[in-house]
Amino acid sequence: MDVILRGFRDGDGAALMHLHRRAIMAVPDDIVSPEHRRDWAHGLEEAGYVRAIEAGEHFIIAERGGVVVGFCSYLLGAPEAEIVGLYVDPDAQRRGVARALVTEAERRLFDRGATAITARASPAGEPAWAAMGYRVTGQESYRSRGGSTLAVARMAKPLSATSQRPHRNFYGRRKGQHLKDSQERYLAEDLEALSPGAVDWDANPQRTPLDLDAVFGTRDVWLEVGFGGGEHLIHQAASNPDVGIIGCEPYINGVAMLLGKIREAGVRNLRVHPGDARDLFDVLPEASIAKAFLLYPDPWPKKRHHRRRFVTPEHLDPLARVLKSGAEFRVATDIPDYVRQTLEEVPRAGFEWLAEGPADWREAWPDWYSTRYEQKALREGRVPHYLTFRRR
Ligand SMILES: C[S@@+](CC[C@H](N)C(=O)[O-])C[C@H]1O[C@@H](n2cnc3c(N)ncnc32)[C@H](O)[C@@H]1O
Repeated sequence: MDVILRGFRDGDGAALMHLHRRAIMAVPDDIVSPEHRRDWAHGLEEAGYVRAIEAGEHFIIAERGGVVVGFCSYLLGAPEAEIVGLYVDPDAQRRGVARALVTEAERRLFDRGATAITARASPAGEPAWAAMGYRVTGQESYRSRGGSTLAVARMAKPLSATSQRPHRNFYGRRKGQHLKDSQERYLAEDLEALSPGAVDWDANPQRTPLDLDAVFGTRDVWLEVGFGGGEHLIHQAASNPDVGIIGCEPYINGVAMLLGKIREAGVRNLRVHPGDARDLFDVLPEASIAKAFLLYPDPWPKKRHHRRRFVTPEHLDPLARVLKSGAEFRVATDIPDYVRQTLEEVPRAGFEWLAEGPADWREAWPDWYSTRYEQKALREGRVPHYLTFRRR
């Protein structure tokens, strides 16, 4: 189950105190003396977190399945900011919770002008901080209210636009079989002019939002994620000349196929991001997209691979951010377990499912154009499902 990051809410104090204590109790005995552990854990009180917030400390809470599994707090400061606390429940450690919290704190602090972050690490936490790019800059002794001491390392990390580049695993194919000469030519000649603006991290390290008005004027803008060979995308572009459509697809052979179709159809209202949708979400302005299509996303049938699916918070939360309120989001899939995960995850990300009866998911949309993947699924006896959501 994935971790969700959120801000502090009324009533969180008790959960934070409980987790904080559990984390302190789990620090090995050779690192913290029994007196210090007792002082450290017993000095905590529920209202202390609220007082810290009132005094200017910011909290990020990590939650999994509705349970708080970690938190981090930081103090703004430019050019140097500080991560004051980082605690992960012992049962949730080594699963990327600390990294997710620190990355989010770094992103927020960088956005607010910090160019370096400091933190204090106990010997137990030092390797984890080092793995996140923090270097030891000095040693300190931390004195508890009861007078016991703990040796801590002062650590620091410089922040820059490129250090903010998130690590994103991509499991699909970016290149398949050999490209035809004509396809190589389309890529060389046409792709640049079809760019929606600077999307890639190298071209836009500050993640400046795209100027969609400059690209499409005042037209509505739609988005198709993972367009494959582009047959549905080109159909929608040709049928809706008054709309601007952005397609994104990391598989370069698919992009080349689309470019051939664009030449053939002569449509002018399409733009292409030949890469990962997550990079595009970073730079699409909030509430800028009026309709989105996710057609036959990679099924990842094995249970241990379900977290790679598109219908996970990593993709759905930023998608929800860029969709306008009321925007339609269409998902087509032939995998029953993908339907299950979609119906679970998409509403959680801020959408409502619009189905009133079975016809709504068994019959294709009136303006549908069957994709290559759907044709294959039908040939192999699998049943398409058409799920329609509305962004709340
Ligand atoms: C099963 S194919 C379906 C292609 C097409 N929509 C169709 O129905 O024929 C899924 C596509 O999603 C693309 N894809 C996977 N992860 C993606 C991501 N993070 N961003 C954009 N596209 C992605 C893959 O490259 C692949 O072409």
